[in-house]
Amino acid sequence: MNYKEYYAKSISQPENFWKEQANTIEWYNKPEITLSEDENGYPLWYKDGELNVCYLALDKHIQDGYGDQVAIIYDSPVTQTIKKYTFSEVKTEVAKLAGGMQSLGLKKGHTAIIYMPMIPQAAFAMLACARIGVTHSVVFGGFAPHELAIRIDDCKPRLIITASSGIEVDRLITYKPLVDEAIELASHRPKKVIVFNRKLGARIPFKKYDVDYDALVYGSEETPCVAVNASHPLYILYTSGTTGKPKGVVRDTGGCAVALKFSMQKIYNIKEGDVFWAASDVGWVVGHSFIVYGPLINRNSSIIFEGKPIKTPDASTFWRIIDEHKVNAMFTAPTAIRAIKKEDPNGDFIKKYDLSSLKTQFLAGERCDIPTLEWYNQHIPVPAIDHWWQTESGWPMIANMLGVESLPIKPGSVGKAVCGYDIKIFDEEGNEVQANQQGYVVVKLPLPPGTLLDLWKDNLRFKAGYLEQFPGYYFSGDGGYKDEDDYIYITGRVDDVINVAGHRLSTAEMEEVVASHQSVAECAVIGINDALKGQIPLALVVTKLYDDTEHFQLEHEIIQIVRQQIGAVASLRNVVIVNRLPKTRSGKILRKLMRSIADGDQFQIPSTIDDEAIIDEITEVLQKYEIGTFNKNNNLTN
Ligand code: COA
Ligand code: AMP
Repeated sequence: MNYKEYYAKSISQPENFWKEQANTIEWYNKPEITLSEDENGYPLWYKDGELNVCYLALDKHIQDGYGDQVAIIYDSPVTQTIKKYTFSEVKTEVAKLAGGMQSLGLKKGHTAIIYMPMIPQAAFAMLACARIGVTHSVVFGGFAPHELAIRIDDCKPRLIITASSGIEVDRLITYKPLVDEAIELASHRPKKVIVFNRKLGARIPFKKYDVDYDALVYGSEETPCVAVNASHPLYILYTSGTTGKPKGVVRDTGGCAVALKFSMQKIYNIKEGDVFWAASDVGWVVGHSFIVYGPLINRNSSIIFEGKPIKTPDASTFWRIIDEHKVNAMFTAPTAIRAIKKEDPNGDFIKKYDLSSLKTQFLAGERCDIPTLEWYNQHIPVPAIDHWWQTESGWPMIANMLGVESLPIKPGSVGKAVCGYDIKIFDEEGNEVQANQQGYVVVKLPLPPGTLLDLWKDNLRFKAGYLEQFPGYYFSGDGGYKDEDDYIYITGRVDDVINVAGHRLSTAEMEEVVASHQSVAECAVIGINDALKGQIPLALVVTKLYDDTEHFQLEHEIIQIVRQQIGAVASLRNVVIVNRLPKTRSGKILRKLMRSIADGDQFQIPSTIDDEAIIDEITEVLQKYEIGTFNKNNNLTN
């Protein structure tokens, strides 16, 4: 069946389509009911199915005779370590860790937070939770204690699993003290903290709730997998929204397992036994779906990479890893390619490695600019496939489904709708727009299996954020258009979410932190184009009357509080002091206008603007600070 027929079948007969796909995984209790509704009328997949994802990822392969196949390849240039784990080895460690967690009182229905660097133990911790029905919430290591505390208070974990430290390029990051600080800040108290001691030299003060990871695993028996219902929450993953409070996306178990198996085979075209590498972090959805669960369920060897595309030690690292581990398909964010391109413009490093194992390069996480795509195509002889999805969907929504039919690539487009996603482009009123006209990217309900089930303990926000703007449709928060061949182009977020080096961040959250500085009267944080990171935040600050703090001092302090409150990952480096912010006559800050000025985009002066002279004022300040388009090094076409 070609893409067109296969896709049409998924949309016209969703129940049949996903019933067939459910047969690609093993269940303890095969679902009789493929599609139904939850108590809020939201579509629910495989309601009566029972399964265990850890079983599918590990035990099943051992039973099938693949226990000696490599499951995880840990490649850590920052510690100069390469270590391979077979499915049997991973299963033993995970089953013992899960047994240890049970001895600490953890059981099905509890939650646990995982806050770890990119080491195999992070994946072991996720799988151990899944094994015993504990819902995990992995928090990205670049988030500061305050952010961790918000998540602790929201999902109320009984347990936190962490490591003593991580390494960022050449800097030791002590994780455990950050967890201690977060527990101090939070109102909820986890009972225990399991600490994996990496022995990298970090001094870790002992707390009464600490449990040593190695001792726990060593002293515990292997525990079997616990059957859970298909709609049991496998994990909660917090992502940035348009307010200061992150959203806890809830992922079910059954739909997730089916969708990830489907993605590995039909989108990524990865055969069992292949080597798959998603160069991301387990703290993001890419890590959940395509470092841990997807590849392992599909019996692939998955690479856990502790490093960066550059500086660990240089721009050759990606190519070295592909060659050394014979990677068959890779997934990264365009920003990583831009970073490599900057350091090695002529691709000299690339020539030193044998990349013949690589069949495809997948790109996602942010818009892929055409010069980056062209540079990749010029230097590496495999197709670079852009594709689009979100934390909420958990797996690709628009792509080139290589396992079904390889469609011609149109640079700038993220491909066509993936099976199960009936994607439309709507205008403000919810009418479908014509081909090539921009609008809001929405998906007709029901979303396919494996997409978000809810927001953790906040169904009202779930409905308000995703379902109410266009009744009957899921609203993605992105803008875009479709061409006459149904190829889709994503133009960017239509809300205050920004994408910095493939990391999704909320400018509203940054604004709250900036506004908390005692010298700040009001402020706006906007995302502006950046040649390396795609977007970076820019804070425009109006100081309080009679405040005599030196401007450079204030700028420095604001950068520091954002680092302390949100984390280094926020990448706020640009703070400018302005006399006033552009506003409408009713007092609404014109953020889009400021973005257009900074990015050098054409704009129309809003008819509601309070005072047009502000446009020249803002332009002058950005020029003075050499920010955005006024920074001569910031040119995406280089
Ligand atoms: N723990 C602690 N700190 C972290 C961290 C972690 N897990 N991850 C990032 N940080 C810190 C970095 O050290 C950096 O701190 P600094 O401001 O003191 O230098 C800051 O957060 C910003 O990190 P990052 O966005 O990674 O920028 P960078 O300048 O260090 O590297 C790239 C730039 C492009 C090389 C890097 O962003 C990259 O490899 N991106 C790939 C994209 C990716 O993996 N996306 C995930 C979704 S697919
Ligand atoms: P996250 O939830 O962190 O995965 O971020 C999802 C957001 O990243 C989407 O809503 C898009 O705005 C953006 N995004 C992801 N993939 C792409 C892509 N291929 N092209 C353009 N934007 C993308």
